[in-house]
Amino acid sequence: MSALDAKLAAALSSREQRQIRRRLPDPTSSSDSSSLIDFSTNDYLSFSSSPMLRDRFLSVLSEAPDILGSGGSRLLVNGQAHNQLEARLAHFFGSPTALLFNSGFDANAGFFACIPQQGDVVVYDEYIHASVHDGVRASRAKNAQFSFSHNCIISLRKLLLRLIDERPSLVDGTCSLFLAVESLYSMDGTFAPLAEIVELFDQYFPRGNAHLVVDEAHATGIYGPQGRGRVAQLGLEDKVLARLHTFGKALAATGAVLLTNILIRDYLLNYARPLIYTTSLSNANIIAASCSFDMLENGLAHKLANDLFGLVAHFHEILRPRLASIPQDLLALPFHLQHPLQGNSSGLLSPIIPIMTSQPRPLSAYLLNLGMNARPITWPTVPKGKDRVRVCLHAGNTRQDVEMLAEGMLNWAESVLLEAKQKRKAKLRHQVNGAFTVLLESKL
Ligand SMILES: Cc1ncc(COP(=O)(O)O)c(C=O)c1O
Repeated sequence: MSALDAKLAAALSSREQRQIRRRLPDPTSSSDSSSLIDFSTNDYLSFSSSPMLRDRFLSVLSEAPDILGSGGSRLLVNGQAHNQLEARLAHFFGSPTALLFNSGFDANAGFFACIPQQGDVVVYDEYIHASVHDGVRASRAKNAQFSFSHNCIISLRKLLLRLIDERPSLVDGTCSLFLAVESLYSMDGTFAPLAEIVELFDQYFPRGNAHLVVDEAHATGIYGPQGRGRVAQLGLEDKVLARLHTFGKALAATGAVLLTNILIRDYLLNYARPLIYTTSLSNANIIAASCSFDMLENGLAHKLANDLFGLVAHFHEILRPRLASIPQDLLALPFHLQHPLQGNSSGLLSPIIPIMTSQPRPLSAYLLNLGMNARPITWPTVPKGKDRVRVCLHAGNTRQDVEMLAEGMLNWAESVLLEAKQKRKAKLRHQVNGAFTVLLESKL
């Protein structure tokens, strides 16, 4: 074995031992190729199986002048379809400009790697997506990257006050602060307190040198007027420097759009490496994304989002009361769903429902056996001690699906408890038998 092979194999086997080795799921267990009920994908509105969207896509595709490839980087080949979609999205989202990226990952990595300048500070929620971490790490804001506790305004305020105290350039406005949040967090289903953050900025940065960047990856299509996201829902468009909407989740396409001002767009075109040094989205991709936006504009997304929220409410109604009798480490809702009014400032329903358990893999395997696909999520994707099965509900799920899921999880927990009880009994019997034998022997 070469030195490289030995080192790579050792790292993988260490992950294996710690039960965190990643593997591609069995393709037969993915919802598109089998009859499994989908509680896993980010296809929140079930657009991927929408006959209306499919018909629209095929019809536009068959009429389009260009469908295959895109010919190169946007900097070399700037296709009509790409420009038209950008213009349309800038208008749809009420933004000065829009810039397409091949993925949400590229957009975050590109933005955060090049927009913060020397002397600037980047602050982010501790649960922010890996793509923001990658971007910030590559940025010029070296040794000026700080996280605050998830969704905690008190923690954020404390951090901002400390930074203001330590860095006069943030007070005199010669340097900038960037704050990265997700409007809906993908692993927790929690909502960023956007309005409160804007208030803090107005209070502490009256010179306007604090900039909010909102990743709407998981909120796109579901929240706000015509699915335009949480920023639009709260009317905060003018308070946000950049918004990211991805096409790969509820929109069942691929790619992303960054909504921002003209100067930043121009700067990204010059400096964002994941935009410059890559082939742009194919024309077919652009058509797919564009057809999904048709579904936002024609009201289909709104109707499906309402169906989805009905299912989420139903799931909570049947699950919550029955969890009371089950030990928390076996099966529990996270704090914000146990105490919706305290834990979640917005009171909104989220299709992402983490089911906290110390045994995510056995629970997921049990559900799979019953024909349901809900994925286990462990460290390093989530913090240590916060293992879970991540349940994603979809507009296309039925009430019966959701009831079967709740029942399946509760039955699993009861079977684990029963097994533990039987083991304890057997151990006790063994100990009693042993003591009895010793007693008998001492009498002989
Ligand atoms: C919050 C968030 N931002 C960005 C991304 C990346 O988006 P994309 O899948 O388009 O690369 C994801 C996807 O995992 C995400 O969850």
